[in-house]
Amino acid sequence: MIKKPIFEKDGHTWFVFGREQKKFNTVIDTNEYLIISNEQYILLDPGGTEIFPNVVAAVSEVVDVGKIGTFFCSHQDPDIMSSLPLWMGLCPKAKIYLPAIWSDFIAHFGHEYVDNFVKVPDKGVSIPIGKDKADLQLIPAHYCHSSGNFSLYDPNAKILFSGDIGAAIMPIDANELEVTDFQQHIQYMDHFHRRWMPSERALRNWVARVRELDVDMMCPQHGSIFSGENVGLFLDWLEQLEVGSAH
Ligand SMILES: [Fe+2]
Ligand SMILES: [Fe+2]
Repeated sequence: MIKKPIFEKDGHTWFVFGREQKKFNTVIDTNEYLIISNEQYILLDPGGTEIFPNVVAAVSEVVDVGKIGTFFCSHQDPDIMSSLPLWMGLCPKAKIYLPAIWSDFIAHFGHEYVDNFVKVPDKGVSIPIGKDKADLQLIPAHYCHSSGNFSLYDPNAKILFSGDIGAAIMPIDANELEVTDFQQHIQYMDHFHRRWMPSERALRNWVARVRELDVDMMCPQHGSIFSGENVGLFLDWLEQLEVGSAH
């Protein structure tokens, strides 16, 4: 698993973990992101049960995993958060931000963790990270693809964690974590968005919301990170895409 800092300034750090080579090819590859700020440790979309040991091993090279106090789950899918009960064994007091509409469904992983849930209403909330830093913002991304879904924007780093939006199914030997040639990258994103995104209206609403933010880097849960002009190229591409058909 590749482990890499993608932002570091004034005691505020983002790490990405991804491109796990030691997993079955039948398990979709995922990126996990860790924010470290003001002695707070926040893990975004902690991943599936299948890769939990690999993620714990990689994250523990950066921080004491028992210090993770916050988890953010963009939506309810198994690749997003089926590892959560295992994480709760390591971080029993951590808060788990998740879409409110999925709370009672996610409770099937273990009702004993429901007290840790912060049920995020449809309009989103902020996650405080200390008085000298701006709060993290949960941006509504409903129906992109899940019916209850959020992106996370960090105004300090100008990073947007976009979950499944911007996802790409990369070739098995791909090891670069950043998009270098946007036109070349489209082939890895196209089917994912056409098939897993149900609503053009929802995507366009999300694009309009994101255009109001100052984004230097967009970080999806699968595939590669968009930075600089590739963020705008992605928004332009997504805005005109026809989705929601299984034909
Ligand atoms: Fe998903
Ligand atoms: Fe996903």
